[in-house]
Amino acid sequence: MRTRFTEMFGVRHPVVQGGMMWVGRAELVAAVAEAGALGFLTALTQPTPGDLAKEIERTRRLTDAPFGVNLTILPSISPPPYEEYRKVIIDAGIKIVETAGANPVDHLPHFEDAGVKVIHKCTSVRHALEAERIGVDAVSIDGFECAGHPGEDDVPGLVLIPAATRRLSIPVIASGGIADARGLVAALALGADGINMGTRFMCTVEAPVAQEVKERIVANSELDTRLIFRTLRNTARVAANTVSAEVVDIEAGGCEFADIAHLVAGARGRRVFEDGDLDAGIWTAGQSQGLIEDIPTCAALVRRIIGEAEAIIRDRLAGAIEEGVRV
Ligand SMILES: Cc1cc2nc3c(=O)[nH]c(=O)nc-3n(C[C@H](O)[C@H](O)[C@H](O)COP(=O)(O)O)c2cc1C
Repeated sequence: MRTRFTEMFGVRHPVVQGGMMWVGRAELVAAVAEAGALGFLTALTQPTPGDLAKEIERTRRLTDAPFGVNLTILPSISPPPYEEYRKVIIDAGIKIVETAGANPVDHLPHFEDAGVKVIHKCTSVRHALEAERIGVDAVSIDGFECAGHPGEDDVPGLVLIPAATRRLSIPVIASGGIADARGLVAALALGADGINMGTRFMCTVEAPVAQEVKERIVANSELDTRLIFRTLRNTARVAANTVSAEVVDIEAGGCEFADIAHLVAGARGRRVFEDGDLDAGIWTAGQSQGLIEDIPTCAALVRRIIGEAEAIIRDRLAGAIEEGVRV
């Protein structure tokens, strides 16, 4: 399946594994790369830029296929040393970066000079247009269904993706709520050049998270997410559990970040992934949990998505036109 995405980034399949805090590590990214898709290490999962350099090396020992690094630029009182992370990415010879969060404008000239292609992940048409204007190579657009930060506009992918693709010239990767071949075919029909998946890749054999998390994703339905930080206008979609329920309750009564900080601390969320204690803290997952029924290897997952997508297009869709087969 060839698209502008596969051609621009030299990746076999139009499938991306977006950056995931605590999850986007060498084991997963290398497995995604070996499967012919594009995986991103998550820079900020590494405590220091030096650790990121080591993680890039560790990934390279596991695969010769191309992979990238996600640089999530968050509003923060004491920001991480973004320039140093960026320097590590460039010095290591990484050629594809996924930026997310704030506008990446300050980083772009450095990446461009080093021949690094940038995919900026955003959640609205206006931010995608701005990203195109400042010179990113492609955008990844997260609909309201997505895990993590869907923004504040609440526009789901079925509207957001075509609203974006009709106005953008650069390749668009549809993201949020996609977990199978139907999602890939739908994304292509909406004008996208590929798909990005987070929750689906977190629920694979190689994802470095506790088995309990993967089994909970399989058990969960599309109803098992909660939107936290709504009242702070920094919405995050996370898995339903006792901690996210408590945050939503406190927010309903009106609060400041300080009132919920102890509940949402990153260290607690990390314990969910490491120890498999599903109520230890907040952990990120999307509505696509309702579409996930197994824990495959990345190779089996990507093979299945591509194979089934080709079958949907060739048999179900083309058949409905050419042979009058009812879809
Ligand atoms: C556990 C987890 C952690 C994530 N952390 C980040 C992150 O640090 N930076 C980022 O840009 N996106 C992050 N995301 C979002 C994903 O890259 C992707 O955009 C999103 O999961 C797509 O929605 P889906 O889960 O419905 O496929 C995270 C997603 C998950 C599931």
